[in-house]
Amino acid sequence: MGAQAIKTNLVLILDFGSQYTHLITRRIRALNVFSLCVSGTSTLQSIAELNPSAIILSGGPHSVHAQGAPCFAPELIHYVESKNIPVLGICYGLQLIVQKLGGQVKIAGKHEYGRMEIEVAKVEGLFGNKNVGAKQSVWMSHGDEAVRLPEGFEVVARSNQGAVAAIENRARGFYGLQYHPEVTHSPEGMDTLKYFLFDICEISASWKMQDILDEELKVIKSTVGPDDLVICGLSGGVDSTVAATLVHKAIGDRLHCLFVDNGLLRWRERERVMETFERDLHLPVTCVDASEQFLSKLKGVTDPEKKRKIIGEEFINIFDSFGQELKQKLGKEPVYLVQGTLYPDVIESCPPPGSGSTHSHTIKSHHNVGGLPKNMKLKLIEPLKLLFKDEVRELGKIIGVPQGFLKRHPFPGPGLAVRVPGDVTLGNHLDTLRKADEIFIQSIKDAGIYDNIWQAFAVFLPVLTVGVQGDQRTYSHAIALRAVTSHDGMTADWYDFDHKFLADLSTKICNEVVGVNRVLMDITSKPPSTIEWE
Ligand code: XMP
Repeated sequence: MGAQAIKTNLVLILDFGSQYTHLITRRIRALNVFSLCVSGTSTLQSIAELNPSAIILSGGPHSVHAQGAPCFAPELIHYVESKNIPVLGICYGLQLIVQKLGGQVKIAGKHEYGRMEIEVAKVEGLFGNKNVGAKQSVWMSHGDEAVRLPEGFEVVARSNQGAVAAIENRARGFYGLQYHPEVTHSPEGMDTLKYFLFDICEISASWKMQDILDEELKVIKSTVGPDDLVICGLSGGVDSTVAATLVHKAIGDRLHCLFVDNGLLRWRERERVMETFERDLHLPVTCVDASEQFLSKLKGVTDPEKKRKIIGEEFINIFDSFGQELKQKLGKEPVYLVQGTLYPDVIESCPPPGSGSTHSHTIKSHHNVGGLPKNMKLKLIEPLKLLFKDEVRELGKIIGVPQGFLKRHPFPGPGLAVRVPGDVTLGNHLDTLRKADEIFIQSIKDAGIYDNIWQAFAVFLPVLTVGVQGDQRTYSHAIALRAVTSHDGMTADWYDFDHKFLADLSTKICNEVVGVNRVLMDITSKPPSTIEWE
């Protein structure tokens, strides 16, 4: 989805690097208002193109006095005033407003965060639904302090130590909160945000997934020329499936999908996903069995990054050949490539302003956004680029992707290669892993807990240990089980199974999977571990 998809009622968040910026985006979307987060230092032109109805300046780790402290484009002030676009500054955002509009911010030297009580001093504007003197608990960020407000501003809430907690200048349309209204530690913060959006900005809560769908279909239809061919790699996961189904709705069978069996898939995965693509979604999919090609390249390779690189390169080679085949068959080369890139992928690839770095942190080599060849001729269509995972699931539901499919746990692009440490091609390690993994996942489904878990899978341990099975001494492999809960995969906790469930599972795996005599449970959170083993 491009920025064209949002025409009115957009709340634009200018990001100055706060860890909570994306939470603001989510909270606002949860109120049925579309919000988008862009760099705090975006040009005025790029902001004006989005035609925002309100602007929020996020918090950030900087001091407004620091050298290179990030700031919005200087012309923004004139722009918002001439267009009557209200601006709300949060923490650092408040201080930017104070400093840039002629007030004074004093350097406090250190940043402190904490729960604090504030008292409402004025009930219009941000606190229009409260009484003067009403107290509320908020998550405050004490950084630098606004010691003199710009002309025309007034304090509308103070902390119990008398510090400025909220300011506004209604006539000019500038508002500021020194605390974070978006976090749960500010229980009444959402009231204030609602007041800002619905009373001050008079935005209507009308954003629906159906609108996104309608707009997106329009955008795809107008982007892709009438004879253009489009290709899409399906992984069997939620994102690529929803993206492909959406594009298929827009352009029909000019979309050509490819599903690659790289020899690193789970038990019967190829059959399962092909059935969904063909029977439920009627997607035109070519299935390529490239197991030999991948596995021969992986022979003897033990380094996890090398494995990922080899797999990534092979995917690209297969895509190139697919494009060539289409050209021979249909007389035309594909012009576009559909990718199921999500909003968090885009966010993670952007440096926080003022950080001086080109990336917010090292992007894994598997990352969608970073993983394509630089000289690629295909143009990208990324219809989910502005959506969070749960929103993609909602969209998928509207366009008829089966519910069971939408709830599938994530599965990494390099597949089982990152679940068999070391050389994946040795012995029948992959097959052993597939069988154990299937028993694990099926048991989780039978217990009715699949949807409580973010991701569950088995890992093959390439170590031999001694056991005794059926009066015989064995020297066999161990299987580790990994199941985690998480919101977004960035951090994770291990899932606490019932002991009886684990005991039955371990017996079943040792009895039914030849070559396994030991089952271990991975009880590490992320950090310090990652979710996958490699
Ligand atoms: P980690 O292991 O980094 O995993 O804690 C976080 C999430 O990302 C998935 N993952 C991958 N996905 N290619 C992918 O497409 C990869 O190479 C890859 N490595 C990890 C992982 O399954 C989890 O959901």
